[in-house]
Amino acid sequence: MHITMRNIHKAFGQNQVLAGVDFDLQEGEVHALMGENGAGKSTLMNILTGLHKRDKGTIIIDGKETYFANPKEAEQHGVAFIHQELNVWPDMTVLENLFIGKELRSSFGLLQTKEMKALATEQFEKLAVSIPLDQEAGRCSVGQQQMIEIAKALMTNAKVIIMDEPTAALTEREIEKLFEVMNALRKDGVSIVYISHRMEEIFTMCDRITVMRDGKTVDTKPIPGTNFDEVVRKMVGRELTDRFPARNPSPGETVLEVKNLTRKGVFENASFSICTGEIVGISGLMGAGRTEMMRAIFGLDPLDSGEIWVNGKKEVIKAPHEAVKLGIGFITEDRKDEGLVLDFSIRENMALPNLVSFAPKGIIDQKSEQDFVDMLIKRLTIKTESSETRAGNLSGGNQQKIVIAKWIGIGPKVLILDEPTRGVDVGAKREIYQLMNELTDRGVAIIMVSSELPEILGMSDRVLVVHEGKISGELPRSEATQEKIMTLATGGL
Ligand SMILES: Nc1ncnc2c1ncn2[C@@H]1O[C@H](COP(=O)(O)OP(=O)(O)OP(=O)(O)O)[C@@H](O)[C@H]1O
Ligand SMILES: [Mg+2]
Repeated sequence: MHITMRNIHKAFGQNQVLAGVDFDLQEGEVHALMGENGAGKSTLMNILTGLHKRDKGTIIIDGKETYFANPKEAEQHGVAFIHQELNVWPDMTVLENLFIGKELRSSFGLLQTKEMKALATEQFEKLAVSIPLDQEAGRCSVGQQQMIEIAKALMTNAKVIIMDEPTAALTEREIEKLFEVMNALRKDGVSIVYISHRMEEIFTMCDRITVMRDGKTVDTKPIPGTNFDEVVRKMVGRELTDRFPARNPSPGETVLEVKNLTRKGVFENASFSICTGEIVGISGLMGAGRTEMMRAIFGLDPLDSGEIWVNGKKEVIKAPHEAVKLGIGFITEDRKDEGLVLDFSIRENMALPNLVSFAPKGIIDQKSEQDFVDMLIKRLTIKTESSETRAGNLSGGNQQKIVIAKWIGIGPKVLILDEPTRGVDVGAKREIYQLMNELTDRGVAIIMVSSELPEILGMSDRVLVVHEGKISGELPRSEATQEKIMTLATGGL
């Protein structure tokens, strides 16, 4: 299938999101679509698949002007979309999610469960996914939910597959599998639109790249004809010198220590400590138990045994508000579920955890709240018309920035960040790293769970590696390398 989008315009209210985008997709190519958070990538693809109506512009598919009325029609014509925001239905089973709206039925209208299971199993095998089909989808990890989304799209036998940040929640191993599948699809003539903020992936997997900025196409080029620096320059409109700002840590006293934390079947005997001003990176494969450890420390999940010491005092944390009272903050990996109230404005979301500081006597000091919110919008380059915009209307990466911003003003002593820069563009990533440095300069201890090895290596003073619920190794910054971490993460010595 060959798709040409020409001079596409789209505004949401006063916000001119697309202002003349050209995009061309050839048969059997993997085409990277890049641009800063809010550049309009997801919107462009939503226009192609009929979720949004364009204001102006032409879409030509295989030589014919074609406009899909809705995503379902797009899918029926061979254009599938793996969305950035996960769309699984938590109360339904994995199998039900895979076939939602396209259940197989016999001529009598009976559900053909056996046939559906066989198809699903076959697809899962191709992707090396092992999730029970009758498990409730809500009980799957974010990474597993992502794999369900991917499998669902692949099962439609599409000619064009749009992948919007598909690997953000995946492990190295899952990513490898996905790449194998993508290579096979490309051989079969399937075209893939690949949206990602991970440069390494773009340069390994893609044939061509289109860069968007401010709702316009900057350039389309073959990948061999470009490089990292050029792409970044086109995306952000300026030179970006170093990806990771320099760190000059000066760790102080131990602020948090956990001893033999155990939650049966999830993690076992986890012991570590962190000092003020320190960044401890926690690496490991998705599903190794890193997030679960953090949830337990924060009081979201119960512990079977183990001790938590804060500032030299043994504490029992049974609920998040108890953790917050002790000065612990937690930025979860699942922003949709726990990090963000989509129906609230940016300002309301950012000010929520800070209510105490803005309202010492119960009266909100609106001026200082507004100053604080404006400062963070500017610092994190959150792309929005105003602080009153509904959080749910922001682009994926900009939502992530709000989640981070929420916790910064609260002034925690220990800040746990779970995948802090997922879906965030290179420029804003650096801004988040810079904020982390400023926080540690002020004595905040940061625990950063991340699946991005460059980030772990670039920002951690110390790296802990988790393998199957156990801390399998600890590496000081000077000794941490990609190879060593991967070895520890996969159970090697
Ligand atoms: N339904 C909507 N209503 C109002 N504004 C919207 C809506 N959807 C998107 N926008 C706005 O359109 C702009 C582009 O958003 P889009 O999601 O296309 O960006 P993106 O390039 O995919 O960014 P990211 O890398 O963060 O995912 C943003 O400023 C966003 O706030
Ligand atoms: Mg997007």
